[in-house]
Amino acid sequence: MKRTTYAGLVDEKYLNQTVTLSGWVQKRRDFGDLIFVDLRDREGIVQLTFNATHAEALAVAENMRNEYVISVTGQVVRREVSQINNKIHSGQIEIDVIEAEILATSKTPPFYIEDNVNANEELKLQYRYLDLRRPEMQKNLRIRSKIMSSAMNFMDQNDFINIETPILAKSTPEGARDYLVPSRIFPGSFYALPQSPQLFKQLLMGSGFDRYFQIARAFRDEDLRGDRQPEFTQMDVETSFMSAEEIRELVNAWVKAMMSDVVNFDLDTTKIPTLTWQESMDRFGTDKPDLRIAYELKDVSETVKSSEFGVFAKAVEAGGVVKAIAVPGGAENYSRKDIDKMAQYIERFGAKGLAWLKVTDEGISGPIAKFFPNHAALLQVTGAKPGDLLLFGAGRNDIVAATLDYLRRQTAKDLNLIDMTNPWAFAWIVDWPLFEYSEDFDRWIAAHHPFTMPNEEDLHYLDDGEDPHQAHAQSYDLVLNGYELGSGSIRIHRMDIQEKMLKALGFTPEAAHEAFGFLLEGMTFGFPPMGGIALGLDRLAMLLAGQENIREVIAFPKNSRATEPMTQAPTRVDHKQLNDLGLFVSDVE
Ligand code: AMO
Ligand code: AMP
Repeated sequence: MKRTTYAGLVDEKYLNQTVTLSGWVQKRRDFGDLIFVDLRDREGIVQLTFNATHAEALAVAENMRNEYVISVTGQVVRREVSQINNKIHSGQIEIDVIEAEILATSKTPPFYIEDNVNANEELKLQYRYLDLRRPEMQKNLRIRSKIMSSAMNFMDQNDFINIETPILAKSTPEGARDYLVPSRIFPGSFYALPQSPQLFKQLLMGSGFDRYFQIARAFRDEDLRGDRQPEFTQMDVETSFMSAEEIRELVNAWVKAMMSDVVNFDLDTTKIPTLTWQESMDRFGTDKPDLRIAYELKDVSETVKSSEFGVFAKAVEAGGVVKAIAVPGGAENYSRKDIDKMAQYIERFGAKGLAWLKVTDEGISGPIAKFFPNHAALLQVTGAKPGDLLLFGAGRNDIVAATLDYLRRQTAKDLNLIDMTNPWAFAWIVDWPLFEYSEDFDRWIAAHHPFTMPNEEDLHYLDDGEDPHQAHAQSYDLVLNGYELGSGSIRIHRMDIQEKMLKALGFTPEAAHEAFGFLLEGMTFGFPPMGGIALGLDRLAMLLAGQENIREVIAFPKNSRATEPMTQAPTRVDHKQLNDLGLFVSDVE
């Protein structure tokens, strides 16, 4: 029996035709001489009916169980009115089965294969191939596939050359921790899996390819979150002789094509706002603002610095800030208990408390209202209206920013204040600081990476005797709905500037040579001005699929402990393998 179409595609157009279908048993209902089976394949579900007219088929159906693989031939007939199901594509019809065959049996699966099924995440990952049978997962991975082919088409049409770069590469400092691969031939030496193709794509510009593109795997041993996996996929681009603006225009065109191809959305890229990093931090407390939320952070330091409320006055006196958000409708929707819970949660950002005020028709209320007898200025600066809840952060600017960024997103989620009429809120964030201070490393690190070109007018900050940390960079991030989707920059293509940059990062000339000598040497052979970007494909697929975790768009993802519950990677290896590699593992339990 050769399949003629997919189960999920059969509809009224097929009425009276004979079809052959293959797939899995979703469900079986047995009424003796009448058996209904829901047949599932990648396109959806169709209802099969088996009855005594075709006794042999009926006998086969008696043995069918959930997740058996079957093949059937039958006639497409209209369902009885009572059987019509408008929720599925095939809901008007059913298949009157003439012939049936069981191709494979199945044990009872560890969880019911259905969307929104209440099963343990770890169990679902352990039996990932079963979880992937669900319609939602099938849809997610197809969205991912569409994004890739859309990108391939766009890049090809725009004369980009698809070039693969090594997976077994060199360990270079900066960024995240590397995944290392031991060399058998040189015991004690290691390859590193690439954190991105960054250095190779710069070298390819040096080779004259002019427009490079790759859908590249990247590997980073870092703490995992909902939008971070240890291995992920970048849509990686590099170009020569283009300005940052031109590269952003190119990416806009690419994203426009993708939104049209994948979700049939006509994105008006002329409306994508470009914010400086500083503006984004000031207005939203984050470098990846969700622009679907209307309320912003307002600096009330001037207004409250001489108030009687010690917390605010002291924060400003100590060189900090006081900022607020006015949450529409927050006054009646949040109880004191809710606010206490929020206050507890934000301790993780270093916040010392959560001062608040409710705005009423009469003015303001709440425990600290008494400190603000003249509250008109406060309401004016914050733009707060009756019914709003004012939430305040006071203290160090970075703590206040992180706190209010979180509260802004969380309250918007709680109270449905995310503007769904603007479903795809893209933004460009530009003019980043060249360096950022890393609490982890306790030193200055490159905010993007060490090959990012400073702004022309800031180049002098890299000279001896100047403060390099004042410099801003020709870098840009593409943000979508509060996620960092992509990141890129104009690169340093001159060795003199690159050397100064590495020096500012604390590399001695020897250390710089050891780490990046091949690139530095390359630059002495005529490298063109260049720039590029990498978009996180997993994050893009996650957002376009309406998911909240990139696991949902990766076929075989790692869990939050960076292990893969199905294969159980990583695993111990045997002594012979270790010996071959010249490795000795101290016995850790
Ligand atoms: P960056 O490090 O910002 O830039 O990475 C580019 C994009 O990749 C995505 N991303 C991730 N996605 C899932 N899991 C992760 N662990 C993860 N880390 C990053 C993000 C991010 O914006 N070579 C530069 C790009 C360039 O300058 O051209 C780079 O890798 O969406
Ligand atoms: P206290 O005077 O410490 O009892 O605090 C009075 C109010 O101010 C409480 O609601 C605290 O949660 C809040 N508060 C304390 N410290 C801060 C801070 N750094 N930022 C915002 N609110 C604070």
